[in-house]
Amino acid sequence: MLLLAGCSAGFDSRLPASQDLSGQSVKSYFQIVSSSNWSRSSETAVSTGDYVKALRVASLKMMGRDPLLAEISQVSTGGRDAYEKVIRSYLEAPEFLDQMRKYFQGVFEMSGNSGGINYDEPTNLALYLIKNNLDFRDILKSTHCYDNNLNEMSCSSFASASEAAQHAAGAITTKAFLQKWSASFNFRRVARTFKVFACKEYPDMDDPGLDVDQISDTVKTFNCTNCQPACYSCHRDLNPRAALFYKFDVNGVFNLNPTAAEVTKTDTGAVSTVADLLKDGVTPVYHGKPLSELKDYAHYLADSRHFRNCMAQRFSGFMLGTSEFSPIPGDLQAVRDQLSWNGFKIKDFFFDLVTHPAFIKRSSQ
Ligand code: HEC
Repeated sequence: MLLLAGCSAGFDSRLPASQDLSGQSVKSYFQIVSSSNWSRSSETAVSTGDYVKALRVASLKMMGRDPLLAEISQVSTGGRDAYEKVIRSYLEAPEFLDQMRKYFQGVFEMSGNSGGINYDEPTNLALYLIKNNLDFRDILKSTHCYDNNLNEMSCSSFASASEAAQHAAGAITTKAFLQKWSASFNFRRVARTFKVFACKEYPDMDDPGLDVDQISDTVKTFNCTNCQPACYSCHRDLNPRAALFYKFDVNGVFNLNPTAAEVTKTDTGAVSTVADLLKDGVTPVYHGKPLSELKDYAHYLADSRHFRNCMAQRFSGFMLGTSEFSPIPGDLQAVRDQLSWNGFKIKDFFFDLVTHPAFIKRSSQ
């Protein structure tokens, strides 16, 4: 085998498999030989001592403990191959899922049961996808829900499985997420979705959103451009996205006929409707694409580079201790790109990241 083939050759060879969205022919990280190409190609730069030091970082983050003596001795004698083997064992360990559970409880800012709502529901979906190494875009697309043991259960925000199949959009249509971030005009639900899945705060600089004359000004000057701060700069995107959440009541339930106690409110507590946000007949858009319901927005977002970049910087940030708002370091951008080539498989991503020479170099300093 030509070991100096390098990263770009590895990408080319995997392009067809990664585009098979059925997931059937996408290789798992056990089968991918080329994922170790980047470590092999810069083999001279990484010493066995570096692997031993990186093992400590990997173990602390992924397992929540120091490396075992047996693991250290394996890596100090076996070098890169032994290191890769230990990383694979971490990815299959229950401790890794425990670490991911804590991480996602922090990301979603919720956990536990209260008032009949399981606030771990969004985290459970994330864990189910990670554990089974499934396409992580399903965090915004799944129409299934999981209990704390990751067994499938009925989605608490929908009356039936067929209603969920029609309208569910992964974590953001769980009762927990919707209820926790319920607030006037639904802006908070929009802002949280953007923060968690695009790693950004408003304004959304990349989406032109709606025109000034498409945004309603009946209850607030959401379209004002000459005021401070210019409401339009954020609300051109917030309003169309918020309009999609009106089908979910304040308790987080899909509900097309909410009672007075369940209905979305304005900031003064009056009953709010979509007409408060959009002018008559205006369709919500995402990057110019019309959206008929929340699920459409969730799918577009999940398929965007914003989501890819966000997930890459979340998981690399978890390993490197950097903020969710910091882009992945330049020398690890190949790992970020690899995330979409490999079909958003998070175990593959961790393996690629933790075995990359740039990660090992950083961790051994
Ligand atoms: C920098 C972006 C930005 C700008 C500029 C902005 N908003 Fe907002 N606005 C937001 C976000 C984000 C939220 C949701 C905050 C949250 O998480 O609750 C929000 C929420 C609101 C709410 C609901 C507040 C509540 O009580 O729950 C109103 C009303 C509102 N904005 C009106 C305006 C008006 C009027 C202007 C112009 C004077 C304006 N906004 C300018 C981003 C912006």
